[in-house]
Amino acid sequence: MKTIIEPFKIKSVEPIKFTTKEERVKILQDAGYNTFLIRSEDVIIDLLTDSGTSAMSSEQWSGIMKGDESYAGAKSFFRFEAAVKKITNHKFIIPTHQGRAAEKILFSILGGKGKYFISNTFFDTTRANIEFTGAEAVDLLCEEGKHPELKAPFKGNMDVNVLDEFIQKVGKENIPLVMLTITNNSGGGQPVSMQNIKEVRAICNKHNIPFFFDACRFAENAYFIKLREEGYKQKSVPEIVQEMFSYVDGSTMSAKKDSLVNIGGWLSLNDEELAMKCRNLLIVTEGFPTYGGLAGRDLEAIAQGLEEVVDEHYLQYRIRSIEYLGEKLLNEGVPIIEPPGGHAIYLDAKRFTPHIPPEHYPGQSIVCELYIEGGLRTTEIGSVMFGKYDKQTGKLIPAMMELVRLAIPRRVYTQSHIDYVAEVVTEVYKMRNKLKGYKIVYEAPILRHFTARFQPL
Ligand code: F0G
Repeated sequence: MKTIIEPFKIKSVEPIKFTTKEERVKILQDAGYNTFLIRSEDVIIDLLTDSGTSAMSSEQWSGIMKGDESYAGAKSFFRFEAAVKKITNHKFIIPTHQGRAAEKILFSILGGKGKYFISNTFFDTTRANIEFTGAEAVDLLCEEGKHPELKAPFKGNMDVNVLDEFIQKVGKENIPLVMLTITNNSGGGQPVSMQNIKEVRAICNKHNIPFFFDACRFAENAYFIKLREEGYKQKSVPEIVQEMFSYVDGSTMSAKKDSLVNIGGWLSLNDEELAMKCRNLLIVTEGFPTYGGLAGRDLEAIAQGLEEVVDEHYLQYRIRSIEYLGEKLLNEGVPIIEPPGGHAIYLDAKRFTPHIPPEHYPGQSIVCELYIEGGLRTTEIGSVMFGKYDKQTGKLIPAMMELVRLAIPRRVYTQSHIDYVAEVVTEVYKMRNKLKGYKIVYEAPILRHFTARFQPL
């Protein structure tokens, strides 16, 4: 087979500013050793997130010019609505300015003390929006998903046996909805199988509980189903997407991922009464229901992006470029979550720096070293992001996994950028024994990883 090439030509470029190692040591120190607090111009390759960082196509940019900026009933809304319906087939499509705005609306209405929401793994903002209402967010990830080194095709699946038991234990009346995150971002960008989606649907039917997707990376998930699940090789990605969504009653979406845009999101629903409540709250917090916190031009760009993201040449390139980085690192012995996921490579900090205990944040230590060594900006997904303190003892309850995410923006970096990333990670891996832990010197009460400040030990 020939090299899988980037299925696009580059029309517009953004220069990269280069810094020296000495400069980066100082920049990192000034940022309190938190990569979220570094200026982007001081970053050489930015792998902080794949969210809102996509390069748009010439068709999307021309959509920007076509945007209808009318307050109500804009043409761009109807194009957006039709594009989202083509994916979800849901009756009510509510635009929001990004994913967490959709989450905020949905969980404010359904949440509250005594309620439980269940997922394979909730993403940090989703969990925070649930907990903010006083409800509990429960992750029921399948066993394979908890072992980074274990190779399995669908490590994002939910443990359906535990799901059934859990529903019976807390009572179906206390569970407003069950949600599958596709792909499972916090668990390594791992996909969920169609089989698992169907099984979760069956259990939700049995207990009469609504079932939703956190659909951020639905196209990447669909492509993995095509590649890995029996019976889907001959199906097109749009067909697989439609089947996936046929099993759910609604979705929250961050269009900043699999819609190839820089801002946007939606809430899709079939339940009319719930949709009315959501629209009313939308008007208070986001805007009129035909723009929901977005400009008409953003709605155009999303509609176009949704056509491009299910293109199989695009998805083949996308999934292969992540796998390519994964293979390079594995060849050098670097421990990562296997197999590589859909939008990122996740370094397994527990095996990378086994000498640093969770309370000294091994992932954060690797994040800092990657920046110093090569100007890479990455993020910790471990005990900084998900650690909690024991209410009695005040001791850290570590996260299930200690990971460092190298998220790859869509259509932004070329193969030589990725080769450089692999070289930097390998360099840091070679000097792993010298890495030291960190302590937190400032933290916010919620979503602390965004603003925390650290000091090396
Ligand atoms: N759900 C998942 C699975 C996500 O990955 C994100 C965002 C959201 C919801 C929230 O969407 O940012 O548009 O409000 N993830 C980004 C990331 C921030 O870096 O993984 P948002």
